[in-house]
Amino acid sequence: MAYKELYARWQGDPEAFWLDQAGAIDWVTAPTRALNDTRAPFYEWFTDARVNTCWNAVDRHVAAGRGKQAAIIHDSPVTGTRHVISYAELQERVARLAGALRARGVAKGDRVIIYMPMVPEALEAMLACARLGAIHSVVFGGFAAAELAVRIDDCTPKAIIAASCGIEPGRIVHYKPLLDAAIDMASHKPEFCVIFQREQEVAGLTPGRDVAWHSFQHGAEPADCVPVEGNHPAYILYTSGTTGAPKGVVRHTAGHLVALNWTMKSIYDCGVGDVFWAASDVGWVVGHSYICYGPLIAGCTTIVYEGKPVGTPDAGAFWRVIEEHRVRSFFTAPTALRAIKRDDPEGKLPGRYDLSHLRALFLAGERADPDTIQWAQRHLNVPVIDHWWQTETGFAIAANPLGIEALPVKIGSPTVAMPGYDVRILDEGGQEVPPGQLGAIAVKLPLPPGTLPTLWNADARFRKSYLEHFPGYYETGDAGMKDEDGYLYIMARTDDVINVAGHRLSTGAMEEVLASHRDVAECAVIGVADALKGQSPLGFLCLNKGAKRPHDEVVRECVTLVRERIGPVADFKRAIVVDRLPKTRSGKVLRGTMVKIADGQPWKMPATIDDPAVLDEITAALRRIGLAKG
Ligand code: COA
Ligand code: AMP
Repeated sequence: MAYKELYARWQGDPEAFWLDQAGAIDWVTAPTRALNDTRAPFYEWFTDARVNTCWNAVDRHVAAGRGKQAAIIHDSPVTGTRHVISYAELQERVARLAGALRARGVAKGDRVIIYMPMVPEALEAMLACARLGAIHSVVFGGFAAAELAVRIDDCTPKAIIAASCGIEPGRIVHYKPLLDAAIDMASHKPEFCVIFQREQEVAGLTPGRDVAWHSFQHGAEPADCVPVEGNHPAYILYTSGTTGAPKGVVRHTAGHLVALNWTMKSIYDCGVGDVFWAASDVGWVVGHSYICYGPLIAGCTTIVYEGKPVGTPDAGAFWRVIEEHRVRSFFTAPTALRAIKRDDPEGKLPGRYDLSHLRALFLAGERADPDTIQWAQRHLNVPVIDHWWQTETGFAIAANPLGIEALPVKIGSPTVAMPGYDVRILDEGGQEVPPGQLGAIAVKLPLPPGTLPTLWNADARFRKSYLEHFPGYYETGDAGMKDEDGYLYIMARTDDVINVAGHRLSTGAMEEVLASHRDVAECAVIGVADALKGQSPLGFLCLNKGAKRPHDEVVRECVTLVRERIGPVADFKRAIVVDRLPKTRSGKVLRGTMVKIADGQPWKMPATIDDPAVLDEITAALRRIGLAKG
């Protein structure tokens, strides 16, 4: 069936469409209804079903006789190891871990935080939670203790599963001291922590609270899969919003299973036995959907890659993995390709590897620039598919559905809306704009299965963040346009979120940290264009009148502060001291104008500006650090 036909079929009867897709899932009790709109605008899917995620991702493949097939391949250039785990082994390992957690009182609905690097044990911890109906929340290893503490207090976990360390090229990331500091800072205390000791660093355990991964599981009775209701939360994943407090995106169990399974075939064109690789991190949504759950639900082999696109050992690392493990579909962020392209501009390295199993390259996480797409097209000889989605949606809003029909690629566009998403471009008043015109991108409610039903313990924030601005729609926070053929173009965020190396960050959160510095009276953070990372954060600091210390000292302290409070992932390395910030007459900082000036783009003097001279001062300050050219 062609894309247009499929999309029309979904539009004609969304419930029938999703019930049909639900047929691919093993249910304990099959759903009788797809959509539950009794609490609209809080929509749910498959509420009356009963199901277990771990069964669908692991056990059912063993039951179908595929126990010997590789489920997970851990490829870790940073430790120089490779390790294959079959579906049968995975089942055994996950059931035992789940059994040990159950023996310590972890049950359906309890929260468990997972703070681990790219090791298979991270996926096993996620699946063990899913087996028990416990709700996991994975926290990315590049966040600092304070960010972990915020998440501990928000989701109040019964247990935390962590590793002793992570490995970044050139340095060990000491997880355990970060974990200890986070627990000290948080008001909520977990009952216990399970620590996966890595040989690169064995962490000291806190007596009475910490247990080591292996001894914890020793002698544990394996646990069976616990059926949960369709609307039972499978996980909470925190993401950045406009303010410092991260948003706890909730994912319901049944919709997650149905939607991800559908995407594996329809978008990524992968099925049982195929090797699927998403070079992301389990701490991000891509890691949840396409390192862990999607490929396993579909019976694929998934790759857990603990390395970088460059430097581990070189810019051929991705191509080596694709050759060695016969990857069929590969998913990465444009920034990773830009890093590779920088080291191998002529694309010599891909030619040294056998990439004959590779069928397509998928890009997401940030805008894919034409140069990067064309470089990949030239040197990989496979379709390069840009697709657009968000932590909130859990799977692509717009894509080129290779498993249905390979649509013509238009460079700069993530192609068309997927079934489930009625995407509209709206003006400020909520009216649709004609093709080719920029506007806010919104999706008509209800969102499809697998997307967020709400934020954890924050229904009001969910409404305010996503539903209030355009009644009847979900506001994506992205701006862009549609062309005459319905192709979407995603241009920029409409809020204070920036995207640094495919990582979603809140400038508001960074501003909160900077404002806490004793010499800082006022501040602003913007994302300026960066050739490698897409965007890079830049701080503007206005100092207190009495502040006498040298500016570069204050800047250094501010850079350290953001690294300590938010983490290295914020990549906050630059700040400048200015006398004043440009503001509107009502006191709103004109961040958008500052971005345009910094990037050397044409800009207009805002009609509402309080004092136009401030923009001259800002321009001069930016020029001193090599920005605002042109
Ligand atoms: N744990 C701890 N620290 C981490 C980390 C982790 N999991 N991941 C990154 N960091 C640290 C890095 O070590 C670096 O620290 P530094 O300031 O001491 O150098 C900092 O966070 C910034 O990291 P990163 O953004 O990765 O920049 P980089 O310069 O080290 O590497 C790229 C640049 C492009 C190679 C890298 O950003 C990359 O691979 N990006 C792809 C991202 C991606 O796949 N995102 C998925 C979204 S779908
Ligand atoms: P995250 O929630 O971390 O996945 O980040 C989601 C945001 O990243 C989106 O709202 C977009 O701003 C941006 N993004 C993701 N994919 C794309 C894409 N293909 N093109 C442009 N922007 C993208």
